[in-house]
Amino acid sequence: MGAEDLALHYAHVILASIWIGYLAVVIAASFRGKETLLAVNRSAGLLAFGSLILLAIVGVVMASTKYSASPSEWFAFGTYMGRIGEKMITWLILAALGGYLNHVEIKKVEETGKVGRFRAIAAFALIASLGAALLGSMLSLGV
Ligand code: HEM
Repeated sequence: MGAEDLALHYAHVILASIWIGYLAVVIAASFRGKETLLAVNRSAGLLAFGSLILLAIVGVVMASTKYSASPSEWFAFGTYMGRIGEKMITWLILAALGGYLNHVEIKKVEETGKVGRFRAIAAFALIASLGAALLGSMLSLGV
């Protein structure tokens, strides 16, 4: 792997870790009540969402440079290169969930003090994120 590919690879993995780590911490915080959840969201919510956005940019750059795959190959689902399109669709779902959690659901937590719905959506996003990470590992392992 060339230096550029290696840098992109590590940037992608670090950004994914920030996003996944945030989801894990915010879910754990929700069990300690509204104030802890809000404090975690205030300190890391924006950073995590920004990492999710950058994750897609770095991912698309890797798909076109390291893998030299064309958009028609990205969306040949079920094939090796099709994992890229599968990751993109998962990412779109995550971006929608992340935006919803940070802008809509967090206001409901502030107003009502109820954290159950926020926790359930964050848990769903965490599982989907682990799925995207697994697809990424399959790509880099060549399976
Ligand atoms: C637009 C969305 C995405 C695209 C185009 C994309 C693309 C890629 C590509 C091409 C690789 C292979 C990297 C390599 O061989 O060095 C990869 C790996 C990886 N991706 Fe993504 N990705 C996207 C979203 C995500 C998301 C949402 C996550 C997790 C939250 C994620 C986590 C990972 C991880 C952990 C790896 C590395 C796995 C390993 O080396 O074992 N990616 N991704």
